[in-house]
Parts: sequence; C-alpha cells; structure tokens
Amino acid sequence: MKIICANFKMNLLKEDILNYLEIIDNKIPKDRVIFFPNELYINYFKNQNYLVGSQNISYLENGSLTGDTSILSLKEVGINYTLIGHSERREFYNDSKYVNKKIALAIKNNVIPILCVGETKLEHEEKKTIDVIKKELDEALKEQTNLTNDNLIIAYEPIWSIGTSITPSNNSIDTTLLEIKTYIKKQYNLNPKVLYGGSVSLKNIDTLEALKNHDGYLIGTASLDANNFLSLINKVK
Ligand code: PGA
Repeated sequence: MKIICANFKMNLLKEDILNYLEIIDNKIPKDRVIFFPNELYINYFKNQNYLVGSQNISYLENGSLTGDTSILSLKEVGINYTLIGHSERREFYNDSKYVNKKIALAIKNNVIPILCVGETKLEHEEKKTIDVIKKELDEALKEQTNLTNDNLIIAYEPIWSIGTSITPSNNSIDTTLLEIKTYIKKQYNLNPKVLYGGSVSLKNIDTLEALKNHDGYLIGTASLDANNFLSLINKVK
C-alpha cells in the first residue's frame, strides 16, 4: 500500500481549507494519505481523523527560540509525522545543519520523520546524485538510536524537479531509489519506505506508477486543489 503525502507549504488559508475538507469528505483513504498543511490548520484535518504531519519542527524540544514551533506543541495538535530537511528549508534556513537533531527529536517523541533528500540540476548532470544523497543520509542518520523500518521514511526529491513540472525519467528515478535503499540497508541495516517527490501530477502519475522501487509520493502543487488531488489519488495503487 503506497503512502501519499500532501505538502501544502504556505498555501491555502482557513476558508480554502474548509472548502477543501468539504470536497474530499470521506473520499480520501485515512490510513495512507498524510496531510501537511500550514501548522495553524493541522487541527482542521485532525478533527476529521485524517493523518497529519508538520512541514518542520524546531531542533529544540522547548526553550527560547523565537518563531520556532516545538514538536511538543505539534504533538498536541495531533501530528504523527513531520517532514525533515525539505530542500526549501535546507536552502533558505540552513536546515542541513539540524536534520540530525530533528530526526532524533522526532524519534524520541514517537513522531515519524520523513527525511527529504535530493540533488540539484547541476549535481544530476555531473552524475553526483547518489554521492550527494549518501552525504545527506549520513548527516541525518549517523549516531541515531532507535531507528526502525517503521519509524523512518525517506523522500527522494530531485531539487530541480520540485515545482518545475520536470521529472527525471522513470529509469533514473528507479536507479536512485534502489541506490538509496541499498545504501541504507548496508550502512544502517534498515529498510524504510522510500517515496518519490517532485512535480508529481495527474499528467505523469500513470507513468510514475510504473516505477518499481517506490513506496509512495510526496506531492506539493498537485495536492492544493481538492478535486485534482482526489483524481490523482484514485490513480495510485
Ligand atoms: P511539487 O512539490 O509537487 O510542487 O513539485 C513537492 C515538494 O516540494 O514536496
């Protein structure tokens, strides 16, 4: 059963969220679709028993960090998942520095981290994809205790594919997904689910469904319109 994550980023305000919930009402599988709305709106999804996650957590559990949100508060609104190290946070908030601490904090609090990894266009062209990803995996997973196959999810998101309508070929995605799985097994003796993210849409979902090595999707833009998202989900096996 594939997992589908809907990452709203900063999009959709309260009224949009209420409309969204009305449209998707009971038509979304509540055991495999996880919503990542702006944290102010997580409770709207939670109240209707959808799986919910946060787009980020502070690297500190509590204390003085103005503007951050603690995992403890996010747990109070019901998250069971959190994205860690999304490329936008790595680029604009230096998040690569904090992914290790954030994963440890998530595991400690029984929240499943979805660790995002991926290469830039240039790194892709220079065939450095797997080297870049191995470094990101090591930074995030080194010295972690208590990781299991079930409390960690990886999302492979080529940065050049996010929000661009461009996706790598299935062959390229499958190769990278397999390399990620093989590396994590060898290095950490773990076999987590690995998702694909980056411009997943109604247009390419049939093609992506033919991938052999993915366990689901992380979807941004195509999750913002409820009807569009419903049609997309119906195509995922
Ligand atoms: P996208 O975003 O689907 O709009 O490419 C994916 C993401 O950033 O997680």
